Amino acid sequence: MSITLEQAKEKLKRYGQEHVLKYYEELSQAEKAALLEQIETSDMDVLDSCRHQEELLKRGVITPLAAMELPRIRENEEKYTAAGLEAIRAGKVGAVLLAGGMGTRLGSDAPKGVYNVGLTRELYIFQCLIRNLMDVVRQAESWVHLFVMTSDKNHETTVRFFEEHAFFGYRPEYVHFFMQKMALAVDYEGRIYLEEKGRMASSPNGNGGWFISLKDAGLLESVVRRQGIEWLNVFAVDNVLQRIADPCFVGAVMDRNCTAGAKVVRKVTPDEKVGAICLEDGRPSIVEYYDMTQELMEAKDAKGEPAYNFGVILNYLFRVDELERIVSQSLPLHVVEKKIPYLGETGEKVKPEAPNGYKFENLVLDMIHQMESCLPFEVVREKEFAPIKNRTGVDSVESARQLLRQNGVEL
Ligand code: UTP
Repeated sequence: MSITLEQAKEKLKRYGQEHVLKYYEELSQAEKAALLEQIETSDMDVLDSCRHQEELLKRGVITPLAAMELPRIRENEEKYTAAGLEAIRAGKVGAVLLAGGMGTRLGSDAPKGVYNVGLTRELYIFQCLIRNLMDVVRQAESWVHLFVMTSDKNHETTVRFFEEHAFFGYRPEYVHFFMQKMALAVDYEGRIYLEEKGRMASSPNGNGGWFISLKDAGLLESVVRRQGIEWLNVFAVDNVLQRIADPCFVGAVMDRNCTAGAKVVRKVTPDEKVGAICLEDGRPSIVEYYDMTQELMEAKDAKGEPAYNFGVILNYLFRVDELERIVSQSLPLHVVEKKIPYLGETGEKVKPEAPNGYKFENLVLDMIHQMESCLPFEVVREKEFAPIKNRTGVDSVESARQLLRQNGVEL
């Protein structure tokens, strides 16, 4: 039983959002109940954040954090790989696929993972990822638990897609789906948009909530702890060359005694649009490309190389006990401009062509700053980084296809 109409009015009044009930009287009983429940469960404290965004993301003092570079990795490859494989065989490594995003830039309403990158045959993004993970399963002769984060907007389609494709050969009992939370979406004045007469506009609350959502879904208890998983490798859905539970990476992070690791690529230019790994106030951190000042871009390390030369590719390894330690710490909130479909003045549905408001997100990269230590681990860009963000151009279906071909994947 959710809150009463009176209680909902009270809450909305507190946040200046009474317009949300504009069509209440027109709704069916079920729709009324659903709207009341949404009002009850939605976090409206975040809404004020769009009014003082500058204060939200103040940065500390940025200094360099040296990466483990390729020559050093190659020297120790055998040792790291053996240690990583041993951890995988002992069931200590799990993988978390972040697939709750809306993929708006790709322009399809379907979950990004169901996108077919094949040309003469079907080759879905999810299929590419499972294939990559299977390489490790074969090498370790041991299955790896895979947690898949979805959202309210794509959960059913995602689960059905895996089922219809027999999990692309993966063992279903090793795949665990869980849903992330949603956050309200507002106009530039901070007024919540309605997406239906009985529903406030909302979108997934960013990829930073993955561990809390995994815990809330009961999977921390029922799988992670029960199976003795000590490391979680978190990765994005859209990099089709993604190496998952990479034994050498796992072994290196363990060997360096770090609580986290981040796969990084050498930046092509100092102003490339990737987050650069660094220290912030002495702790590991990631400085986003839009926060890179001229001074940071020009800074050099002791070898005369650019000091912030390694960009993250959304592939992180976290030690589970560290995640449990930080689970109650809040992450910074990012206020992001987006195109938000909404109901116009007369109740008609509008799909805007340009951004028309804000959504609120927590980001996984901010979790790195909560870690005691993090090993930046260099990988070869052409072998491990083929993100699909756009339909054409940079980081697109086209560029990913070319990289897949280059790596011997038949399209
Ligand atoms: P992106 O930042 O590329 O966002 O996500 P997106 O929503 O997929 O795409 P656009 O910006 O709308 O075009 C990076 C990774 O984080 C996941 C995505 O699925 C992707 O793997 N993600 C993003 C989530 O799991 N949840 C979110 O709320 C946002």
